Amino acid sequence: MTADVDTDLTRREALASLALGGAAFLGACSTAAPVAAEPPRPHAAPGAPTVTTTPAFAAKHAPVPLPFPPGSLNGLSEKLISSHHENNYGGAVKNLNKVEQELAQVTKDTPPFIVAALRERELTFRNSKTLHEAYFANLGGNGQRSGAIEGAIATTYGTSAKWEEHMRTTGMGLGGGSGWASLSLELDTGALRTFWSGNHTQVLATSVPLLVLDMYEHSYHMDFGAAVARYIDAFFTNVQWDEVNARFERAQRMSALYRGA
Ligand SMILES: [Fe+2]
Repeated sequence: MTADVDTDLTRREALASLALGGAAFLGACSTAAPVAAEPPRPHAAPGAPTVTTTPAFAAKHAPVPLPFPPGSLNGLSEKLISSHHENNYGGAVKNLNKVEQELAQVTKDTPPFIVAALRERELTFRNSKTLHEAYFANLGGNGQRSGAIEGAIATTYGTSAKWEEHMRTTGMGLGGGSGWASLSLELDTGALRTFWSGNHTQVLATSVPLLVLDMYEHSYHMDFGAAVARYIDAFFTNVQWDEVNARFERAQRMSALYRGA
């Protein structure tokens, strides 16, 4: 079974504390006070789009509630969805706050290997938060593809069914391990592509995820054991394609801006 994300920080802390002889890093972990989050500061010239900034290391991330009742999906149990949302996703959010508290304590004297470990965990938990929120939000539908994304997929892959075959086999390739399969839009080309990621951090730099499929074992093992294909069947049965279409529409506009079109 793949390690749960909410255990990872503890493992890192243990490794780091061993490297430091114990006291310093663990002391920092246990005593670091939450950084008070300043309110967002708008920086907007008259008539310009509003841009907001938030303080670095505010450690105020909060879980987004499920967009559907956890027992309402077809073939994915309430126990599985609730555990996934509360423990795996919730654990990532909690650990993101913890690691931001630790990063707030970094000074020029902090050993670089400690900073490197914290930065790696920051990226892992931050991307885990984003991808899990995208995953839960693209569930809760009836699985019937429709709208602009349906035509775009068919044009890109020959047929819509052929794309689904690619998405399914990409997910199957991650079975028994960890990672994500995603249908994404490349900002620099405007093209739809299906991507593989072996963990939370291997996302294509210029891509916007439109449909994400969690292939960490924690997303299916409780209901399906090692029967990965049955989980992928259930996933497709519950896709909320209206959400995917909304993301596609926004991503196309983002890509046009990115390319200066
Ligand atoms: Fe997950």
